[in-house]
Amino acid sequence: MREKKPAPSGAFSNRRCRVAQLNLRIWLRSITYHSGLKPSANASGETIQQHGKRIAFDSSRSPTAGLLAAGVAVINLPLAMEPLTPEPAARGPRRKVFHVRGLTKVYGLGLAEVHALAGVDLDLFEGELVVLLGPSGSGKTTLLNNLGGLDLPTAGELRYQDFDLTTAEESDLTRYRRDSVGFIFQFYNLIPSLTARENVALITEIARDPMPPEDALQMVNLGARLDHFPAQLSGGEQQRVAIARAIAKRPEVLLCDEPTGALDVRTGIVVLEAIERVNRDLGTLTVVITHNAVMADMADRVIHLSDGRVLNEHRNSVRAAASSLNW
Ligand SMILES: Nc1ncnc2c1ncn2[C@@H]1O[C@H](COP(=O)(O)OP(=O)(O)OP(=O)(O)O)[C@@H](O)[C@H]1O
Ligand SMILES: [Mg+2]
Repeated sequence: MREKKPAPSGAFSNRRCRVAQLNLRIWLRSITYHSGLKPSANASGETIQQHGKRIAFDSSRSPTAGLLAAGVAVINLPLAMEPLTPEPAARGPRRKVFHVRGLTKVYGLGLAEVHALAGVDLDLFEGELVVLLGPSGSGKTTLLNNLGGLDLPTAGELRYQDFDLTTAEESDLTRYRRDSVGFIFQFYNLIPSLTARENVALITEIARDPMPPEDALQMVNLGARLDHFPAQLSGGEQQRVAIARAIAKRPEVLLCDEPTGALDVRTGIVVLEAIERVNRDLGTLTVVITHNAVMADMADRVIHLSDGRVLNEHRNSVRAAASSLNW
């Protein structure tokens, strides 16, 4: 695992100033827009299921939460918090990143009870690219949201390295989401009034050990589109901005929920190539949910979910290049 250095306190306070300035700028530029955001999480870790527009939100929790109240941003970040530093774990090529045992998630009560996860057992390892397949309603998104600290399980074990996600304080979960996890959703959730570079800068301004936004955009082959607004970009390019935004903080884990679901084949492959490159070059544990069984070929490991459980899994002896896929 990469060692990340906490920012010195002086730098941190400068960073807070920059964040405040950036937030103010975003607020002013975005106030007349609707966000079009899809799934997100509020400061207490509850998943917001509705699609963008104006989001009821407790803006007193953080300045960025205030932006959400105007339907603007996705992040919730207590700016003055120290970085979460997981316990050092054993090094090696197959270091376990996630430990999942008997994970259950029940939504609703009584007759309305839904067992979205019904006892998932799973280990996820450093540097893997894992494809998660399963029919609609099988619990894929629920599992991903639990891994990413967006949602909490009802019962079972869920650990990220030595960090117990089931008993974590909300502030630790927030740091975990901020520092360790990059999310990519089917709909890109970019802020329409910010350029590609500014959408990524939104994260790099607050991340612990970010790469420059330009580098992140270069990684997804968008170095020539830095100053374009989302409306001036194709769907695939917007999704690649979302990938750049997710990886610019150098997360340990990249969680992708149907990242090509809204794209045609050709564009989808370009997006998959970007994900593949991040996984390969940064060594980021990457989990990709898809309905597209063809994508299984690009994985190290393929896990099938059914009725909230792992039905089966298999390992590919050779990973297919994303560019070779077709569907
Ligand atoms: N917030 C919620 N409240 C109640 N039930 C929920 C909630 N979120 C998910 N569910 C239910 O949990 C089950 C699993 O949902 P989930 O979204 O994880 O499925 P999925 O495998 O991602 O499906 P899809 O492929 O359609 O996205 C479904 O029956 C769903 O209706
Ligand atoms: Mg889903």
